[in-house]
Parts: sequence; C-alpha cells; structure tokens
Amino acid sequence: MSQSILITGGAGFIGSNFVPYFVQKYPQYHIINLDSLTYAGNLDNLSECNECANYTFVHGDISDRELIEKLFQDNDIRGVIHFAAESHVDNSIKNPKAFIDTNIGGTFTLIDVARHHWMEAPHQSKPGYENSRFHHISTDEVYGTLGDTGLFMETTPYSPNSPYSASKASSDFIVRAYHHTYGMNVTTSNCSNNYGPKQHHEKLIPLIIQQALAEKPLPIYGKGLNIRDWLYVLDHCKAIDTIYHEGRSGETYNVGGRNERNNIEIVTRICSILDEMRPRISGKYADLITFVQDRPGHDMRYAIDATKLENELGWEADETFDTGIIKTIEWYLRKMII
Ligand SMILES: NC(=O)c1ccc[n+]([C@@H]2O[C@H](COP(=O)([O-])OP(=O)(O)OC[C@H]3O[C@@H](n4cnc5c(N)ncnc54)[C@H](O)[C@@H]3O)[C@@H](O)[C@H]2O)c1
Repeated sequence: MSQSILITGGAGFIGSNFVPYFVQKYPQYHIINLDSLTYAGNLDNLSECNECANYTFVHGDISDRELIEKLFQDNDIRGVIHFAAESHVDNSIKNPKAFIDTNIGGTFTLIDVARHHWMEAPHQSKPGYENSRFHHISTDEVYGTLGDTGLFMETTPYSPNSPYSASKASSDFIVRAYHHTYGMNVTTSNCSNNYGPKQHHEKLIPLIIQQALAEKPLPIYGKGLNIRDWLYVLDHCKAIDTIYHEGRSGETYNVGGRNERNNIEIVTRICSILDEMRPRISGKYADLITFVQDRPGHDMRYAIDATKLENELGWEADETFDTGIIKTIEWYLRKMII
C-alpha cells in the first residue's frame, strides 16, 4: 500500500541528497517535500526527481499551521522526516530570530499537527497510525564544545553555545516532550558536520573549493585549529533511513564518521587535491590561505561517538574523509564545468 511521507527542507543540502536516495529506494512511498526555498533551498539539486511518479514538491513554510494541517488531511501523512531549519551558525549570530521562528516554532507546529492527525489521546494512537513516526534531524552542536579528549555520547548533557545550537536543542526537547507526554512515536538523530555534493557555498568546504578555483583568498577563522568530525552526506542519509525504519521510539542516535580534522587540515587537503586535479598556472593553492578574525563564541572541538547506532542498528559509514573529499571535489569540478 502506498503511504505518504512528509519530508521538510528537502531542497537544502542534506535534504537534496536524501530525497533522491529515498524516492528511488522506496517506490511504495509517496514522498512530499515541503520547503519554503530560503536562500539555502535549491530545486535544481532535485532535478533527478522531476519525473518520479512517487514525488511531489510543495512550496511552503513549516510554521504555516493551516498549510501543514491541509497537507496532513489531503495526503493522510503517515510519517515525517524533518530536515527544515535555519542552519548556518554565522547567520544565527547576525539574525537569531529566524532561527527561533523556524527551528523552534516550525518544529512545534509540525509535530503538533502530526499529534492531532495520529493520536486519539495521550499514549493512544488512532487505529492504523500506530507505526506513524516523526524523525527529527538535529546536530552534535547541541552538546557544546569538547576539550582535547572525549566524545559526545547520547547521554552527554546539552550545552548549546550559539543561537543556532540553542534553537536546535530547543527543538530536540520539544520532540522529546511529545514522546514522554503524548506517547508519540519519535526518533532524533544528532549528526556531526556533513560535507558532499550540493552544499551551499557559505559552508567551509564548498567555499574553499569555489574560492580556490577562482584564485581568491581562502579564509580560515582564527588559527584554523577548531576541530570538527566530518561525515560524508550520503552516509548521514543512510543513517537517517536506518533510524527512521528501525530505531527505537523515543531514542536519540548520534551519527558521526570518526573523522576528526581541524580546519587547517581540511583546507590544506583540498588544496593538495586541487593541485593534482587542476594545477594553478603558478604556485600552489595553499598560497591563497588567509586567516580572518574568529567567529564569536567559536566552539573548539566536536567529536561524535556513534557506537549506539553502529551496535544497535548496524549502521556504519561507507566513506572515510579521504575517499569522501575526493568525490566531493570531483562533483564541484563537474558542476563548475557544466
Ligand atoms: N549541514 C550539516 O553539517 C548538519 C549537521 C548536522 C545536522 N544538520 C541538520 O540537518 C538539517 C538540514 O541541514 P542542511 O545543512 O541541509 O541545511 P540547509 O540550510 O542546507 O537546508 C535547509 C532547508 O530548509 C528549508 N527551510 C528553511 N526554513 C524553512 C521553513 N520555515 N519552512 C520550510 N522549509 C524551510 C530551506 O529552504 C532549505 O532548503 C538541519 O535541521 C540541520 O540542523 C546539518
């Protein structure tokens, strides 16, 4: 039987990698992608779905309750996979309100409409909706920052430091509360930094590739020593698929690739790959590296322990940073040639 699943934010970076993967893998689902197409949404990245019979795009805002209620009613939505968010830390420092509105208010609207559509009463599903699940996509940034050692586990206390991570932490708590109070079938994933095709050029890796190819300065915050745990985007998509279908209700799962790198390492690796694939006429790409004033409140280190997801659900990352970064650079080079 065909059932409708609502995906939010499917025109963004991770969503536009997830949607084609999911649409192709599950022809029995009708995938509805709701996206308000902010500056971060790009329908060109979903062109491979244009002809798919089980895919529909809806232009709209997750905070628009009337629209969400109509979508649930008209399509009898049976599952939600929630990506939509304001996602860039720098923007959250300049304009926190959009983060509060979308990440907190929008998540509340979505899950509250799902509750009314799926639940008869607290801890009592409507007949036929027992398996309807709300999967919430979150970030490792909710845990705050680490020192030189240690890893974020699902039990690590939340300690968000930026307006972005505070808004994501708030949305995680709303989802958690809807499980404990109303008995909703929810799962949450907290993932480390993603990289790969289709990412907006405001983020580090596409920014560096684009600047390098344009022979422009390669900006690095502070001394470039901030460490992130990098995961290839398709590995994140596969983790979300696994958790949505097999995760235990009410649980959170950390997703990460055990690929810790500081920003200098990332940028110099990109430079050396480009030196081989697309050499400059004179000099090396690393000559373009420029240090710029650090981001206020910049967290020093994030690193994820994904043991729970690996042991309980059998997920593991297919790519290491060294394999994933080559695929990523090849994709951007192809895109820039077309
Ligand atoms: N990118 C990462 O490294 C990373 C890591 C961990 C978790 N996450 C989380 O994954 C999710 C997706 O991240 P991303 O990098 O793809 O983000 P993105 O900024 O690239 O895409 C967000 C998408 O949401 C849409 N959107 C924004 N506000 C909306 C609204 N009010 N209504 C409907 N659509 C709206 C945008 O148009 C865009 O298409 C986010 O929840 C983010 O917090 C991202």
